[in-house]
Amino acid sequence: MATIQLTINGNQRSVDVDPEMPLLWVIRDELKLVGTKYGCGIGACGACTVHIDGIAMRSCSLPVGEVKNSAVTTIEGLSENGDHPVQLAWLEHDVPQCGYCQAGQIMTAASLLSNSPDPDDAEISASMNGNICRCGTYTRIHAAVKTAAQKLS
Ligand code: FES
Ligand code: FES
Repeated sequence: MATIQLTINGNQRSVDVDPEMPLLWVIRDELKLVGTKYGCGIGACGACTVHIDGIAMRSCSLPVGEVKNSAVTTIEGLSENGDHPVQLAWLEHDVPQCGYCQAGQIMTAASLLSNSPDPDDAEISASMNGNICRCGTYTRIHAAVKTAAQKLS
């Protein structure tokens, strides 16, 4: 066990955990930020995607001790009022079905657009490819990413 200081959604938080504990466990079980979901636990589905210094990463595969000097953003911290352009585009296209994968999808899309504001179809597909949706909302996700890019331009 160790006391680890984290910056989560702009706030300083302190947790007493094993530094090897996956960040996802800390986010959900210690900090009670349950918008980030557990899907596979092996970095294969994208449900647990958060931003580490603005880059989309899989929190199930990241030991919390490795992110103590980084800014972690979860879906709860993406915008204050749920009005990030990606979230607005998601609403416009009525993207979610069951919703389970969607926080991860949105975090991946937001990271893509902050690094590449005008992605073409191939880039959107390549970036979103690792986020699995069991409900098959891929067509709406793709369209919403394009709409979000327009909102950001
Ligand atoms: S739960 Fe992390 S990638 Fe599936
Ligand atoms: S909306 Fe159900 S898993 Fe994606």
